Amino acid sequence: MKGHFPTDKFSTLATPFYYYDTDLLRRTLAEINAEAGKYNGFTVHYAIKANANPKILNIIRESGMGADCVSGGEIEASIKAGFSPEKIVFAGVGKSDWEINLGLEKDIFCFNVESIAELDVINELAQKAGKTAMVAFRINPDIGAHTHANITTGLAENKFGIAMADMETAIRHSEQLNNVQFKGLHFHIGSQIMDMNDFMALCNRINELQDRLEKSHIWVEHINVGGGLGIDYQHPNRVPIPDFKGYFATYAKHLKLRDGQKLHFELGRSVVGQCGSLITKVLYVKQGTAKQFAIVDAGMTDLIRPALYHAFHKIENISNDGPVGTYDVVGPICESSDVFAKQAEINRCQRGDLIAIRSAGAYGEIMASQYNCRRLPAGYTSEELI
Ligand code: LLP
Repeated sequence: MKGHFPTDKFSTLATPFYYYDTDLLRRTLAEINAEAGKYNGFTVHYAIKANANPKILNIIRESGMGADCVSGGEIEASIKAGFSPEKIVFAGVGKSDWEINLGLEKDIFCFNVESIAELDVINELAQKAGKTAMVAFRINPDIGAHTHANITTGLAENKFGIAMADMETAIRHSEQLNNVQFKGLHFHIGSQIMDMNDFMALCNRINELQDRLEKSHIWVEHINVGGGLGIDYQHPNRVPIPDFKGYFATYAKHLKLRDGQKLHFELGRSVVGQCGSLITKVLYVKQGTAKQFAIVDAGMTDLIRPALYHAFHKIENISNDGPVGTYDVVGPICESSDVFAKQAEINRCQRGDLIAIRSAGAYGEIMASQYNCRRLPAGYTSEELI
């Protein structure tokens, strides 16, 4: 055992693999329930895209959360994990017909619609199926969250959502259609957001919009503000649970909900990010001309975030307590971006040492690929390794 890692159990497992601390996951879920539970009408959906490992999904479903899906595959995964369809929301800028049909067949809670063209298709397919689809419009609030450009989604230039200006037209259009029913508004401004002012800005935007809709006598049953709450990648041990208290309080304070209106959230990273680590083995230590490399058996195929977004993940040598060395920690993939960290200060490495790449529970295992014909990494929970 080193820190909270059962290294003795790890020694029998083939690397690389994801390890999930389910005790931390359960504590995180309990905190979300406690903090969201303080406010009337707050409902949390888990954004399946962050991690769809069935063992993780089961634990999340048990906590009572709904599911936020962005594909037919995610709807299937959530139903398989026991999420009830009336707690499933389905977003996505390009929904295929089979995916819409699946949502209709399962009678999901709501389709988050991203264009008028999509609304027409949902109406047509619902008519064929003899159903009425519940719809919310995803509005592009044109707010830039202070996060990485690739994960900002609420700007006018992004492909997501319907422009604020087209909002009323979209709602009026839905009223003309027989097989869709307008229920709510959906927003999502980006991911890994640490500054509560960004969420406050969203609240102000929604307040403006609601005032406008009220003047047009349009009633909105629910508001869905998406996800986006960030985690502390620098300090996974010190801050294992994100600031849910501040997060929900920001919405409670700044968003003017109308009587009876429900507020939905779609949290991904903040739910599962800190409970997961990618465990990998040092294959070789190589002294290059300018640098020392720790070459590990995990690559960007197992965890693409550093290569794709230059994301920081804390790296620990969990086999060795000795003095510290400086390494570029790199994988075996034939790409020069296959680097987990440059000049990382970690306990000195030798062949066979286990390395934990921390805060990898969200957008880790699920984004793994088989490039270079690699095997997909396994995922183990702390419960099954006892
Ligand atoms: N709702 C919508 C509509 C979304 O697009 C997303 C994430 C979420 C909810 C969940 O956001 P979260 O609570 O996890 O921030 N692969 C990137 C992150 C992409 C996020 C995409 N949308 C990464 O590894 O950082």
